[in-house]
Amino acid sequence: MDITGLFRPFNLKSLSIKNRIVMAPMTRSFSPDGIPTAAVAEYYTKRAAGDVGLILSEGTVIDRISSSNDANIPRFHGEKALAGWQKVINDVHTAGGAMGPQIWHMGIMADHHSGWIPEGPFEGPSGLLSAEVKKGVAMTEADIEATVKAYGASAAAAKRLGFDCVEIHGAHGYLIDQFFWEKTNIRTDGYGGKTLEARSRFAIEVIKEVRRQVGEDFTIIIRLSQWKPSDYNSKLAKTPQEMEAWLAPMVAAGVDIFHCSQRRFWEPEFEGSDLNFAGWAKKITGQPTITVGSVGLTGDFTAAFQGESSEPSSLEELVRRFDRGDFDLVAVGRPLLADPEWVKKIEQGRTNELKGFTKDALMKLV
Ligand SMILES: Cc1cc2nc3c(=O)[nH]c(=O)nc-3n(C[C@H](O)[C@H](O)[C@H](O)COP(=O)(O)O)c2cc1C
Repeated sequence: MDITGLFRPFNLKSLSIKNRIVMAPMTRSFSPDGIPTAAVAEYYTKRAAGDVGLILSEGTVIDRISSSNDANIPRFHGEKALAGWQKVINDVHTAGGAMGPQIWHMGIMADHHSGWIPEGPFEGPSGLLSAEVKKGVAMTEADIEATVKAYGASAAAAKRLGFDCVEIHGAHGYLIDQFFWEKTNIRTDGYGGKTLEARSRFAIEVIKEVRRQVGEDFTIIIRLSQWKPSDYNSKLAKTPQEMEAWLAPMVAAGVDIFHCSQRRFWEPEFEGSDLNFAGWAKKITGQPTITVGSVGLTGDFTAAFQGESSEPSSLEELVRRFDRGDFDLVAVGRPLLADPEWVKKIEQGRTNELKGFTKDALMKLV
């Protein structure tokens, strides 16, 4: 198998990376009071030294009182947290890596098992945790305006600190995705509506504000998923036409790269073609895309949370799709969480040294 394509550089605006491997954003909850520690900096720096092309940080929350449900999730606002991130990016750059924070607002959430709750109620489009369960509050237009500004402020901070790009977390059932989904967005004002395009207004305003804050030359990624944690078979865009109506306005608003989250990258998005989500997003918009989901592992990440272990698997199908031009970048989650040397091992053909993934790897920063 020829993997040289994966090791070609990639350049787009502020982003200049040595290969096509991206570390997927992974929440670690090792930042007490939301402040990334020296151990967090060391964790990311090891991945940079291990030749990861682009590191995307774990989701890091914007300046809204209830943007997080866990005190140990890092914040991307406030002097102390940003000083922690400053050390992270300085160390990552020194090790030859590139990095962008994934900026995040969780929206309406279940309470965390630790018992910690934010000082204000969870907020979302319609105060719905799911179609059936009411929780938190429906955001007013003033709340929406302030939240859009908070995304912009975090993006501006990313640029100021010297990060290489920023990723907006629009996936996996969190705030932006709660606006996209008809089950959690039943608003009757201009932020709701019958079509996905209408329910995308909040996302579009966030993207425009982020672009306004970072300028034209800073790379903006948005992460999207069709699936929801509460419904893996759900699809926001049910046809290529619906996908176009969803994604094209995001490009016009300022998105440079689509990060298309799937649990298994080989699964086709629509009938009649083997293209996956990243393949369709690239075909429809012409923009670069990132694929993700069980690259190099036998089992998917949701099974990992249930305690299922995964073994290393071949990259053949990934390379076939990559070489065909389906996507530009490949995000890898669990293999890089467990092993900072994963990229080097792939590059050097040391496949017998690859590790599988077990739930135990979640318990510590290695
Ligand atoms: C421990 C853990 C934490 C995660 N946290 C995030 C997150 O903060 N933001 C996000 O967009 N995805 C998150 N994900 C999903 C990953 O980014 C990735 O999409 C998923 O693990 C599939 O990739 P993999 O099969 O290579 O692990 C997380 C996954 C894991 C395993």
